[in-house]
Amino acid sequence: MADKSVRALAAELKNFLSAHEEEDFISAAATNQAAAGFSHVKADVQAPPLHTKPAHSVSEQVLYQEAAPAPKPAKKAVSHSPAQDTLTVVFGQPVPQHPQTITVEKPQPAGTPAAEENVSPAGGAMTTEEKTAALAELAATIKNCSRCPLGDTRLNAVPGEGNVNARLMFVGEGPGYDEDRQGRPFVGRAGQLLDKMIAAMGLKREEVFIANIAKCHPMVDPQHPEKHGNDRAPNAQEIACCRKYLEKQISIIMPEIVVALGGVSAKALIADAKSLGALRGKFYTLSLDSVSLPRPVKILATFHPAALLRNPGWKKDAWADLQMVMAHMGLKAPSK
Ligand code: URA
Repeated sequence: MADKSVRALAAELKNFLSAHEEEDFISAAATNQAAAGFSHVKADVQAPPLHTKPAHSVSEQVLYQEAAPAPKPAKKAVSHSPAQDTLTVVFGQPVPQHPQTITVEKPQPAGTPAAEENVSPAGGAMTTEEKTAALAELAATIKNCSRCPLGDTRLNAVPGEGNVNARLMFVGEGPGYDEDRQGRPFVGRAGQLLDKMIAAMGLKREEVFIANIAKCHPMVDPQHPEKHGNDRAPNAQEIACCRKYLEKQISIIMPEIVVALGGVSAKALIADAKSLGALRGKFYTLSLDSVSLPRPVKILATFHPAALLRNPGWKKDAWADLQMVMAHMGLKAPSK
């Protein structure tokens, strides 16, 4: 009998090797809840088959409808207000173009289903009002979600925020300490740097949409959510549970480009087990598991702002990545 850590490792490996087997993975995890140490996973076997849902159908709503959340452990009152360090990051300086500028398209799986998302009930693309309502409904579902154990320990779920018509979407890995407290993405130190990166591209934070792969705070020690330095990357099970939420957000917003921030986000969205170093600096075509998109959306991976805070030497490469995005979108860096 394989022990728990071997099973978890195998599950993680399987997830990264084949995103298309994710549904099997979730079902397997659900039937092996005890072994996987994952007692709150809901089997998605009840969900309608992938790629066959009519847009905004009842079955699609059922997919996101959650049973009453499991009782949460008592939460500790938190009164911490972190002193924000002064950042000395300067984004926006022109740098030589990154040498890896070839566009690599991820091959589309054969038989890609016809576009069925982002369709207004009245036909055609969703209106701003319809997108706002659909995202709000999804956010409400996420806030009640207890598909994985992170739902029991979070202070606040962090669905994401921004412009429903954003041309550009940033996707991080998961909420940290500050985000858990505020229920908003990228509001801590990494968020301050992300704001500077966005401004250097000639955009405002309100013009883009910011979300995460995982919607709840993954903690090293879930018994002590008040602790600092308690963050960790979401694991494969947590990513699998949240994946449909992010995919639905992308299909509603329909940005031109998604920027994956960091290796966890890049590997999950590009569905490739390569390192971030191998994935970044190239455009891929986004291919989602649970929804089909009415037109191609590009994805480019770059460094996570938290990694840039730890390794300032990587900023010039990150800026080269962002300049590729700007060139694609026809954006110019603001003049000083
Ligand atoms: N890091 C992330 O990946 N996401 C956040 O929202 C904050 C920090």
